[in-house]
Amino acid sequence: MCGIIGYIGDRDISSVLLVGLERLSYRGYDSSGIAVISSNELSIWKKAGKIQELSRILSGMTIHSNIGIGHTRWATHGVPNDINSHPHLDSSKKFCIVHNGIIENYLELKNELINDGVLFRSQTDTEVISHLISKYYTDSVEEAFQKTIQRLKGSFALSLISEYLPDQILFVRKGSPLIVGLGKNENFISSDINAILNHTKEVIYLEDGHYGSLSQTSLTVFSEKGKKVTPKISSINWNPEDSEKQPYDHYMLKEIHEQPHVVRKIISKYVSNDNKINFTHLNGLDLSNISRFIIQACGTSWHAGLIGKYLIEQYANVVAEVDISSEFRYRRMISHGNDVVLAISQSGETADTLAGIHEAKSHFFPVLSFVNVKNSTIDRESDGVVYSHSGQEIGVASTKNFTAQLTSIYLFSIFLARVKNVMTPEEADKHLNELKKIPEYIENILNQAEKFKKLADKYYLSNQILFIGRGMNYPSSLEGALKLKEISYIHATGYAAGELKHGPIALIDSKLPVVCIAPDTSTYDKMLSNIQEVKSRKGKTIIIATEGNKEIKQYADDIIYIPKTTEDLTPLLVSIPLQLFSYYVALNLDCDVDQPRNLAKSVTVE
Ligand code: AGP
Repeated sequence: MCGIIGYIGDRDISSVLLVGLERLSYRGYDSSGIAVISSNELSIWKKAGKIQELSRILSGMTIHSNIGIGHTRWATHGVPNDINSHPHLDSSKKFCIVHNGIIENYLELKNELINDGVLFRSQTDTEVISHLISKYYTDSVEEAFQKTIQRLKGSFALSLISEYLPDQILFVRKGSPLIVGLGKNENFISSDINAILNHTKEVIYLEDGHYGSLSQTSLTVFSEKGKKVTPKISSINWNPEDSEKQPYDHYMLKEIHEQPHVVRKIISKYVSNDNKINFTHLNGLDLSNISRFIIQACGTSWHAGLIGKYLIEQYANVVAEVDISSEFRYRRMISHGNDVVLAISQSGETADTLAGIHEAKSHFFPVLSFVNVKNSTIDRESDGVVYSHSGQEIGVASTKNFTAQLTSIYLFSIFLARVKNVMTPEEADKHLNELKKIPEYIENILNQAEKFKKLADKYYLSNQILFIGRGMNYPSSLEGALKLKEISYIHATGYAAGELKHGPIALIDSKLPVVCIAPDTSTYDKMLSNIQEVKSRKGKTIIIATEGNKEIKQYADDIIYIPKTTEDLTPLLVSIPLQLFSYYVALNLDCDVDQPRNLAKSVTVE
């Protein structure tokens, strides 16, 4: 997803902007650029490719300026090339804009501007903004900016600098996140905390629709209706080193290895010493009469939702439907009464999930969200929140936060069962005591990393891999397939094993590796039959089984053992070998593990 950084102050402007862009790079991008005003003149440098390409152009230059903006672009309209990179200028080269989001009415605006005689240089939607500001400018940049943003439809976080206003950065936050960082005699603006955390911990999460101006010593913010507001200042308790990857080669590997700590941390946050579960941010959401959850999420979070369905129904005897957010948001909202929409999101900024929340609230559904990033839009717009406390997740492929989501949902399901009085304290204790063993079980698997490297060496040249599972490990098969495809670009599909005979079995031959997720569960025998179906068609079986299960070895070309645990907790263990397998396959293929091609850490556009 695109990233915006802006700075006004006395530091070396190019290093503040370039380092800021590097820290935004985890969001996913394909080009970058900066612009500064020096001696009242706008200068701009931008380049397709990695940020190193841009810094190569700037190396050796001394830029004397105290105001500038920068951008990492994740292409939506127009191919990734130099011209389509941001920042974008108007024809007079007096206005310079960077943008995160999509201008949905850009074609209408572009045609209007072309009729006015404007010559467009790029294929982007963003360029219409700089020309529109120029069109409206008479003697006030602020007024021209306001008139412009009133005409824009869609999502847009914008930062503007202009030769007519050389000591201020104008900004607006609409649909895409934007924060202000407050310093001593310096100020920052950014798409997320990462880019400015090494300079300041005092930030303002701009509200949707808010716009204003930032100088070196002042900040003015207006609401969408033009009323001056005093924004809330938040202090960040993250440390910059949290987002360093040492001693690991990649953030993804670091985050895989953080998982035992993450599970322990979540348990300590939500479970007291006498095994009482307490969620402190439900904000009065009454769950005692709930009759249905509608879970909506995207990608890995959707997989967590699918597992959540099993847990909520199994433990609390409450119906839990699950929908992909991009489908949910356009579906008819039918209330049965006592429904709660449950959103799951790591970033708290996923456009489809946020739109699902807006739809739900417009139909008076209360919204409970499981979210990792505090003060994210989803955090702020939900009625109740359960934080997944996984810490900052930099790798685009979600790993530790998936485990955090499962752990939080597991605790929530027990909590709900107790609230509805359908689980005894003794049963709850049994579940919680088993959960407390999970960190050690994960460590046990992590210590076998060498095995997953060897497995990757054996299968990394496959051109497709099938993952199959049953019950709660059907979503595990989906997640395993997603991990592999998103970082190694090998085509991978997850399937309910019971579906094999309904089509996928046609794929099976001696060249197709099939990851068979077959821990000790109530559907183990059925999985064994599916494995034999695969074997009898010469498929290669990579079996995930429970330690001590010798019987299954005869059907395995390769076998991965996980520690024995209760059925409901197997997904927490199954995902670890699959994360490591994908990681090493991607490494063997020289893929960019932390920033896979075409992907973004947070999909803030539809
Ligand atoms: C997972 O590895 C992917 N990065 C992606 O599927 C992600 O889970 C999805 O975009 C949802 O993101 P969110 O949890 O931040 O809403």
